[in-house]
Amino acid sequence: MLFNLFKKNKEEADTKEDAYLTLRIRETVRETADTLTVYFEQPEPFLDYKPGQFLTLILELNGKQERRSYSLCTSPFVDPFPGITVKRLEGGLVSNHINDQFFPGKRVTVMKPLGNFVSDYHSKNRRIYGMIAGGSGITPIMGIIKTILVNEPLSIVHLLYCSRSQDSIIFNEAIKGLQESNPGKLIVAHQLSQPKEGWEGACGRLDKGKVAAYFAEQLQDPGLESRFFICGPEGMMRSSQDALAELGVPAEAIRTESFYLEKEQTVAEEDTKDLVSRLVTVVLEGEEHAFDVVPGKTILEAGLDEGLDMPYSCQSGLCTACRGRLIAGKVTMDEDAGLSEKEIAEGFILCCSSKPADSEVKVRIE
Ligand SMILES: Cc1cc2nc3c(=O)[nH]c(=O)nc-3n(C[C@H](O)[C@H](O)[C@H](O)COP(=O)(O)OP(=O)(O)OC[C@H]3O[C@@H](n4cnc5c(N)ncnc54)[C@H](O)[C@@H]3O)c2cc1C
Ligand code: FES
Repeated sequence: MLFNLFKKNKEEADTKEDAYLTLRIRETVRETADTLTVYFEQPEPFLDYKPGQFLTLILELNGKQERRSYSLCTSPFVDPFPGITVKRLEGGLVSNHINDQFFPGKRVTVMKPLGNFVSDYHSKNRRIYGMIAGGSGITPIMGIIKTILVNEPLSIVHLLYCSRSQDSIIFNEAIKGLQESNPGKLIVAHQLSQPKEGWEGACGRLDKGKVAAYFAEQLQDPGLESRFFICGPEGMMRSSQDALAELGVPAEAIRTESFYLEKEQTVAEEDTKDLVSRLVTVVLEGEEHAFDVVPGKTILEAGLDEGLDMPYSCQSGLCTACRGRLIAGKVTMDEDAGLSEKEIAEGFILCCSSKPADSEVKVRIE
């Protein structure tokens, strides 16, 4: 069924411009031993994206459709071609395929750019930006930094970036280049968890104390508005948020992007015994599709089983590709990390982690 969907997506790529695109690889650049940047030719019309958003790649591997999200590392204000940077994961299917098998000329089906890890920009803004990145979490932050530097002459960017060792600092040269061409506007503090000999900078993981100590000093000027962007391993993100909260940074000033969440045990088998199948109606591109969702299944899983071409990517509640608005009934959402508080208040749900909790539920995919 997934294979058929892939065929369907490919065939419809030209007609369903809104949802899917086919991009041609222009160039690949090895950033570190295990990280590759893939630049795409501009499609016609040009790819419409905000710095910090991500693409969902739809690949067919071993006869099965695979979808993975990758943040755009480029800025539409600066870079002529959009790019993603992919880090190999040990045993990872898609990240290794991209690192080994992506070459110029190859065509890739993607979903249009999505994501809330974005900012507003204005030439009059006078802000302190705090960027906190770990490993491949630098990817969306790179696009945002470039955009600030070109659009906000009065703002200052601090980048606190944790990598494993000197060799694994992604965009090391590009970051140095940005510092040189923007003196005093981009301040970078590298932190290495396993430095090699000769490293004189900060060592160890980025924890709450280090983040608090660094930004306590930078947030002294009450005249400057602050904005924070955090992307990296779960523990680093949590401790950074705790540190900023203690420094009095309001939650609205902090944006986070998670690439991966350790999955907790979902509904235990015995818990599902008391649950019943529920009728769910999904409104997709104006058409209503009603189907039963059996206990333990999400609305997305049941919709895909029905053969519906519902949008999705991470299937973990992170990327928002499966976002819909609840028009009737109630759902329980196991994971809502990808949604902002405003979206939740407006009735948005993530179909990949929502199960119906009412006899009739209606969701419009938006
Ligand atoms: C919004 C968003 C943006 C992303 N942007 C980027 C990006 O810019 N660059 C990038 O390299 N990746 C990014 N990712 C992660 C990416 O989508 C994939 O999850 C990653 O490449 C692993 O896919 P895989 O097929 O290689 O691994 P899989 O074959 O899916 O997984 C292999 C094993 O690793 C575990 N795992 C999966 N993902 C991770 C992870 N990220 N960290 C730790 N363990 C994991 C799995 O549970 C499994 O055990 C992003 C994810 C999201 C949700
Ligand atoms: S598919 Fe990513 S949030 Fe649902």
